[in-house]
Amino acid sequence: MDTDQTDLEPSELGTKEYWDSIYERDKTNYQDHGDVGEIWFGEDSEMRILTWLTRNDVPTDRRIVDLGCGNGMMLVELAREGFTELTGVDYCESAIDLCKSILSSQSMHDVKLEVADLTAKNIPNSLGKFDIALDKGTYDAISLTPEDAQTSRTAYVRNVAAILENGGLFIITSCNWTEAELVKQFSSAFRRKHTIPTPSFNFGGKTGNVVSSVVFEKLST
Ligand SMILES: C[S@@+](CC[C@H](N)C(=O)[O-])C[C@H]1O[C@@H](n2cnc3c(N)ncnc32)[C@H](O)[C@@H]1O
Repeated sequence: MDTDQTDLEPSELGTKEYWDSIYERDKTNYQDHGDVGEIWFGEDSEMRILTWLTRNDVPTDRRIVDLGCGNGMMLVELAREGFTELTGVDYCESAIDLCKSILSSQSMHDVKLEVADLTAKNIPNSLGKFDIALDKGTYDAISLTPEDAQTSRTAYVRNVAAILENGGLFIITSCNWTEAELVKQFSSAFRRKHTIPTPSFNFGGKTGNVVSSVVFEKLST
């Protein structure tokens, strides 16, 4: 089957109502016990991205946006590593509230935060342009939307391309799509530059990866 035509089984993880309820709960937990909530794919996945950025000598003043930043823990790690031009975007206001509280508890007041739907027809110009866009689990969530996932996925690819400079990097970590599927689905605006190695497993004589982590470069427009 053509991977472009493949849709995932819809799930509540593809709905804003689901994420609103998660972050409302997480906001309360953070206020009550300082629990930041889930780090998707674990801290190792954050470290793999940070290691890739530092090993490739990415200057710390590159403008980086975390797409679907959730609680913002990736932004915290980037700021700790010395990156200074950071923005987080999420369509859940409560995620952005949580993110704000966590960042200010770390005295990280310079990170910009925006509420925006990354599958909107037109992404707000106010977001600006970036050198690097990160996605950890956001395209996965978007792919699970019960309402016309294909249209949302196409809009996402278009919007990510729109906010990146030509030659800018898009680093995506996904558990729902293989690297080959990601390469195909983002091919209208991106080419694969690098694969960040992720743990693999063996099953029935075949080796596979639980998550794919791919660095794309935006094609010139
Ligand atoms: C699986 S969570 C990942 C959160 C975070 N990136 C991490 O790694 O911990 C998916 C995130 O994407 C956000 N999200 C889903 N669809 C979105 C959309 N259309 N626009 C913006 N954010 C979205 C959700 O609110 C949620 O924070």
